[in-house]
Amino acid sequence: MSHAAAEDGGGPWRETASRYALLPLRIFLGITFIYAGMDKLTDPDFLAASGAGSMADQLNGIDKAGSAAIPAMIDLALKAPEAFGTAIAFGELAVGLGVLCGLLTRLAAVGGALISLSLWLTVSWQVEPYYYGNDLVYLMAWLPFVLAGAPVLSLDARLAARRDQAARGVLAGAGRSRRSVLDAGAAVLGLGAVGGVMGGVGLWRGRSGDSGASAAPTPSTSPSGNPSGAPSSPGRARGGASVAVKAVPVGGGAKVMESSGSAAYVVQPKQGEFAAFSAICTHSGCPVDPPKEGRFNCPCHGSVFDAATGEVLNGPATKPLRRIDVREQGGRVELQ
Ligand code: FES
Repeated sequence: MSHAAAEDGGGPWRETASRYALLPLRIFLGITFIYAGMDKLTDPDFLAASGAGSMADQLNGIDKAGSAAIPAMIDLALKAPEAFGTAIAFGELAVGLGVLCGLLTRLAAVGGALISLSLWLTVSWQVEPYYYGNDLVYLMAWLPFVLAGAPVLSLDARLAARRDQAARGVLAGAGRSRRSVLDAGAAVLGLGAVGGVMGGVGLWRGRSGDSGASAAPTPSTSPSGNPSGAPSSPGRARGGASVAVKAVPVGGGAKVMESSGSAAYVVQPKQGEFAAFSAICTHSGCPVDPPKEGRFNCPCHGSVFDAATGEVLNGPATKPLRRIDVREQGGRVELQ
């Protein structure tokens, strides 16, 4: 038992608990960032140059809403949204692997904190109250690892121990050294396997429940993904600012792309009555789910909008979805 543990009356259990206190958070951050990176890299919508769920679409939504803390960051990202999205995805993957294995943990944590900071300043800056925003929480969660690294069950700890041994000139024999490496390998493999399985399960669940407008699950959060987005739009039309009337069900909607590349929904609340709304949530720029039971639901923080009027039915969003004028002509509904 350490002196400190003895002083505060704790036994070996308390000392062990203290040493491993950050391990659950580390595993969670590692798995989540691996999952977020893999999800983006395997999502063709996210990596597309435009369209619903793409990085460009989200950035355009934030740009139009003027909701970023530093608009210049959005302008910069909009110069190459695919490259920006790919960099974020690979960054998340590297950060997740680093922190999960405990390899260069402080550096990985700095990377995670920077990703979370940039997402907070852009994607979730306007989230109110602030505690609805994931990115600020992730940013805070990274700080202990920036300060303390990963002192247990990590490659950093193993490597540091070996360096200490070498410095003292008491390197153990070859058998012991091999065992040390095997122990480290087993620990890393164990953590990696847990991460891989949980990431795979998360991907499978996300994909099986999302056959349409999948989005960019950042740790923000984001994850600004679309975990429940089963589309109800039989007339999804990509690349044009119009959709066939028969593709818009009464009481439902069909997805269309505005000329700017942003997603929108054409709805038909009553037979022969058409309207269209931007698919970008006015709260923090996530794509809303397709209309269902007369409502648009936002998967990010739970805002709900009336599918006939675009008005907010449930916050945290406070502004209605942007309405787009439509005209019915020649069997098609055209966005104006
Ligand atoms: Fe927060 Fe839609 S982005 S509720």
